Amino acid sequence: GEVDAHRTLGPNGRSLRLTGHVGFDSLPDQLVNKSVNSGFAFNILCIGETGIGKSTLMDSLFKRTLDGQPHEHSTPAVEIAHVTYDLKESNVSLKLTIVETVGYGDQINKEDSTNAILQYIDANYEQFLQEEMKIKRSLNTYHDTRVHACLYFIAPTGHSLKSLDLVCMKKLDKKVNIIPIIAKADTISKNELSDFKQTIMNELESNGVEIYKFPVDDETVAEINSQMNNHLPFAVVGSRDEVVMGGERFRARQYPWGTVLVENENHCDFVKLREMLLRTNMQDLIEKTHERHYELYRKEKMEQKGFKDGEDSIQEAYQNKREQYMANLQKKEETIRQTFVQKVKDKENELKKAEQELQAQFEEKKKRQSEEKKAVEALRKQLEEDMALFNQRKQEAAQYAADQANVKGKK
Ligand code: GTP
Ligand code: MG
Repeated sequence: GEVDAHRTLGPNGRSLRLTGHVGFDSLPDQLVNKSVNSGFAFNILCIGETGIGKSTLMDSLFKRTLDGQPHEHSTPAVEIAHVTYDLKESNVSLKLTIVETVGYGDQINKEDSTNAILQYIDANYEQFLQEEMKIKRSLNTYHDTRVHACLYFIAPTGHSLKSLDLVCMKKLDKKVNIIPIIAKADTISKNELSDFKQTIMNELESNGVEIYKFPVDDETVAEINSQMNNHLPFAVVGSRDEVVMGGERFRARQYPWGTVLVENENHCDFVKLREMLLRTNMQDLIEKTHERHYELYRKEKMEQKGFKDGEDSIQEAYQNKREQYMANLQKKEETIRQTFVQKVKDKENELKKAEQELQAQFEEKKKRQSEEKKAVEALRKQLEEDMALFNQRKQEAAQYAADQANVKGKK
């Protein structure tokens, strides 16, 4: 369907107060010397089957009940839903957009499952590109809606990835920072989990899927990031329920045999995910999106428009365009000339045909006339003959009368 990529916080935009510390206020430290006032935009795309826990995890991550009504399993095609929130933490404001797939994996034919996602990602790149190309651009106030982090929710089967998982991640890995996570990790045993993680990493590697790795080139975070890279994919648990322990409230999932605490690092990797995503590497995710993924999109788009790299690129592009234009013009001219010639020929043929018809009519009339003339001639001859005969008879009669008179006189 249509991608409604741009949604700004109008008068109905939501402002949320966080009930606890999330960690994105460390962003100014991640971002040395960059303006804090205008705030930041951070956009998370959650891909995963219906009911796998996307909305619950986002709520747990941002310590709020954001949005996320459950969806049905019967959507005819994958859709994209997104909501933007204004968050504030220690004077740092963050425009957070959470994008979720709707109906992902529910269709019998999974071939188009990733199309809507790709379209959404590209539409937001295109919007940014259009803004960049404006003569008077305002990138400082522009609400950047490009996807910075793509959380891919893997079903906790303990077995292996589904083919849809591999196909989708492969299609997206040059477009966004993919962070695969094992969803509902409380449903899988601890022993199985480490094998499962290993299997997933092996499958990703053998299929050439490039996921986002926490950067290890910056000294201050190199150690923690390289440690965390070994824990991928994070196995997470989300919950909207809370338990009170020692007067404190904790997000948890309660079972007859015990309680799983979302933020307990012995229970799952939720805290690791939050630290990595919001505290340590948010800025890197934003930068990689711009420098790597968006750059690739931009390059392809410019090439499509006829631009090439190099010193004379603009001159060359102009020349190319000009040649194309001239060739086109010539082609058009040629077709016009040919149609003209054809039309003249048609007209000539038409005239020739008319002339032939006239000629035929003329011949016909001439023939008829000469026949009539012949007939008249014959008639005249007949008359002349008749007349001659008559005269002869008349003479003979006169002669006879004279002879008679002579005979009488002699008597
Ligand atoms: P849709 O938006 O409908 O596609 O689903 P979603 O992926 O947003 O899932 P949602 O967060 O609505 O959760 C669906 C169900 O799974 C709810 O009943 C949640 O309580 C449950 N759930 C969410 N996270 C977890 C988890 O980590 N573990 C377990 N066991 N259940 C979870
Ligand atoms: Mg949801």
